[in-house]
Amino acid sequence: MKIRAAVLEEFGEPLVVQELDLAEPKEGEVLVRLVACGVCHTDMYTASGVDPSGYAPTVLGHEGAGVVEAVGPNVTSVEPGDHVVTLFSPQCGECVHCLDPRTNLCLAIREQQGKGYLPDGTTRLSRNGEDIRHFMGTSTFAEHTVMPEIALAKIDPEAPMDGAALFACGLSTGLGAAINTAKVQEGSTCVVFGAGMVGLGAVAGCRLQGAERIISVDLSDDRLELAKGQGATDTMVADENTVQRILDETDGFGADYTFEATGNVNVMRQAVEAARMAWGLCTVAGVAGKGETLDVVPRLLITGRRVAGSSFGGVKGREGVPQFVDRWMKGEIDVDPFISHHITLDDVNRGFELMEAQDGIRSVIDFN
Ligand SMILES: NC(=O)c1ccc[n+]([C@@H]2O[C@H](COP(=O)([O-])OP(=O)(O)OC[C@H]3O[C@@H](n4cnc5c(N)ncnc54)[C@H](O)[C@@H]3O)[C@@H](O)[C@H]2O)c1
Ligand SMILES: [Zn+2]
Ligand SMILES: [Zn+2]
Repeated sequence: MKIRAAVLEEFGEPLVVQELDLAEPKEGEVLVRLVACGVCHTDMYTASGVDPSGYAPTVLGHEGAGVVEAVGPNVTSVEPGDHVVTLFSPQCGECVHCLDPRTNLCLAIREQQGKGYLPDGTTRLSRNGEDIRHFMGTSTFAEHTVMPEIALAKIDPEAPMDGAALFACGLSTGLGAAINTAKVQEGSTCVVFGAGMVGLGAVAGCRLQGAERIISVDLSDDRLELAKGQGATDTMVADENTVQRILDETDGFGADYTFEATGNVNVMRQAVEAARMAWGLCTVAGVAGKGETLDVVPRLLITGRRVAGSSFGGVKGREGVPQFVDRWMKGEIDVDPFISHHITLDDVNRGFELMEAQDGIRSVIDFN
C-alpha cells in the first residue's frame, strides 16, 4: 500500500514527508493505522546525526498509538480494530529476560531492530523498489506501519489516542522508574532531577506509590509548575548548590529515592550525592552522550547508597502499558498537561523546533 511518512534522508536536515510503499505484514507482524504520535528527543537525536548508531534513510517516530488494520499469519494476541500503543521495547514473553521479573529487556528482536529491520531481517518500507529501514522497530511518523506483534500493547479503546501515545515512551519511562525500578515505598522522600516528560512521569509515579515528599528540581519555572500539578510537594530551581540544599531539606541525610531525568552526567552525580546514606536509591533514566561517564565517590556506595539504571522504566510493555493507561482512565494520572501542541505529519519538523525551544512538553502528531 501507499503511505505518507516522514523520512530522515540526510542527518542534520529536516525530515521529508513523502509517499512510500508499505508491504503487507508477514508472519507475526501487524499493520497499524497511526492515529497519534508524540515527537520525542530520541527522534531528534537520531535526525541530528549525533547518535553513532543512526542510519538513513529511515522513517523516524516511536511514540505511536493507533488501530490494528490487519494481521499477518500466526498473530494471535491482537486483531483488526484493537487499539494499540507501539513499543520500542517489546515483550516476547518467552525469552530468559521476559520470564524474569527483574527486567524488561526482552532479547527477542534486539539485533535486527537496532539495524533497522523487522525480526526476519527485511524491511516492509520501500520507495521505488529501494528499501527504507525501520526505526526503533516502530517508524510511527507515518500513516501506517508494520510492526512485530510482540511490540504492540493493546489498550482500552476508550482512551484518547493523543494521550495514549505518550505512554509509548517518556511517560511510561518516568512512571516506571518510580513504580517498577525504584519501587518507591509509601511515606518516603523523593527527589526528581529534570521536569521534562520523563521527570514529570517520575513525579507522578512517586505520588502513585504514596511518597510523602516529592522534590522536583529543574532549571525552568514553567516546568516546575507542571511538576506541582503531577504531585510535587516542593520545587527547586537547580543551581550549583542543589545537593547541599536537598541535604539541608532532609535533616542532612538526603532522600530515600532520587531520580535523574536530564541526560546530564553531572546531574546524575548530583542525584547519587543527594540519595540518603544507608538505603538511598538513585535511579538513572537519562541517556548520556556517547563516551560520557558517571563520576561517583565510592565511599557514597559503601555507606549504603545504590545506583540503578532504568530503560523504559523497567516496564514490560505489553503488560505494563495497558495498566498505566487504565490508571489514567481512572483519573489517577493527568496526561493532558503534557500535550502542548497538536500538529500534522507535514509539520513534524516544527515539532522538533518546539522541542528545541523547550516550548511545552510534547507535540503530538494527529493523523486523519
Ligand atoms: N531510559 C529510557 O528508556 C528513556 C526513555 C526516554 C527518554 N530518556 C531520556 O531521559 C532524559 C529526559 O527526557 P525528557 O524527554 O524528559 O527530556 P527534556 O529535555 O524534556 O527534560 C529534561 C529536563 O531537565 C532539565 N535540566 C537540565 N539541566 C538540569 C539541571 N542541571 N538540573 C535539573 N534539571 C535540569 C531541563 O530543564 C528539562 O526540563 C533524556 O536524556 C532522554 O534521552 C530515557
Ligand atoms: Zn522517546
Ligand atoms: Zn522477550
